[in-house]
Amino acid sequence: MSQTDPTDAIETIAIHAGSEPDPRTGAVVPPIYQVSTYKQDGVGQMRGGRLAGAQDGPGRWIEGYEYSRTANPTRGALEECLAALEGGVRALAFASGMAAEDCLLRTVLRPGDHVLIPHDAYGGTFRLFDKVLTGWGVSYHPVPVSDPAAVRAALAEHHAKLVWVETPTNPLLSVADIALLAEIAHSGGALLAVDNTFASPYLQQPLALGADVVVHSTTKYLGGHSDVVGGAVVVADAELGARLAFNQNTTGAVAGPFDSWLTLRGIKTLAVRMDRHCDNGAQVAAMLASHPRVAQVYYPGLPSHPNHEVAAKQMRGFGGMVSFRHAGGEQAAVEMCGRTRLFTLGESLGGVESLIEHPGRMTHASAAGSPLEVPSDLVRLSVGIENGDDLVEDLRRALGS
Ligand SMILES: Cc1ncc(COP(=O)(O)O)c(C=O)c1O
Repeated sequence: MSQTDPTDAIETIAIHAGSEPDPRTGAVVPPIYQVSTYKQDGVGQMRGGRLAGAQDGPGRWIEGYEYSRTANPTRGALEECLAALEGGVRALAFASGMAAEDCLLRTVLRPGDHVLIPHDAYGGTFRLFDKVLTGWGVSYHPVPVSDPAAVRAALAEHHAKLVWVETPTNPLLSVADIALLAEIAHSGGALLAVDNTFASPYLQQPLALGADVVVHSTTKYLGGHSDVVGGAVVVADAELGARLAFNQNTTGAVAGPFDSWLTLRGIKTLAVRMDRHCDNGAQVAAMLASHPRVAQVYYPGLPSHPNHEVAAKQMRGFGGMVSFRHAGGEQAAVEMCGRTRLFTLGESLGGVESLIEHPGRMTHASAAGSPLEVPSDLVRLSVGIENGDDLVEDLRRALGS
């Protein structure tokens, strides 16, 4: 049981949910239960009670701790914290964001089903739909999810079972109106799933806006320190949560105890990190917007961003992800990525340290030749929490002014 109260603010939840002092020792941080199996007090008499367990098929609950694929106390602490942060009834922690997506999709979709996906989705998500799920008879249709009329029309045309939304999107930072899309999806009989990786629950809470499911790559802002890969699914409905838990246990891509512990530790500073990411992101975006070697900046905090008003309505801040098109073209963009001092050339995002990358040749290479191909002169920045002036200076130097 958590120490949190329903009235607690998210800064408090991030630190306390799932982190009740250890009942045996009083340790203020949940221990790493690096264990695969548990002593039973008699055959089938497990310790830990029903809350620890998972549903083993319709109606039968595994009571307590039996085996760590099914339930582990350190993973349980993380899952309790994630559920509280997103305002969901249940969260499940996975070995990666892609494992979380895969489990969710195989739980809610069947052969013959259709899904709407953002026309600028994360390349790995696109690859999962394009290269894996199509093989199982699930078809996908890319739509600009920042355009509600286009989503409504695509839903009517394809009778999609699921609307998949990323907001802001990776790497073009377009923003979808979650409340409006929830209404549209539900009126068309579809579920709305939101990949909340770029915003984190500190900046945006999709379930409160009407979404049915939230997905995370916890590798990013939740973990926050570029030292662990993980994923999560959070649901508003207990029955869907039980089906997911059954499939998670059955297919097995769970988060390990140490990875769960690292993620939980990262989450404790989520609020202060996100505030700084937002400040630095805004400072970097403002500099780029007035730079002669930058053709276009993508940052939802800029008033010129086409979805700025929607972002301002549903997000507490605009985050630390900034993309831009280099006015010098593809080669200039690629070369710039190798010239920064503080921004490290690398994939991933959301850590305390700033990263730079070329999506067309790196994170989104798998979308080449598809409707999701990204501009070749695009550079993506994950703006960290270093000193903002230092970061601006680093980029100016790398741009050549
Ligand atoms: C928006 C988004 N969703 C999902 C993922 C996949 O997460 P993971 O790399 O933890 O599997 C990523 C990874 O970059 C991402 O950026």
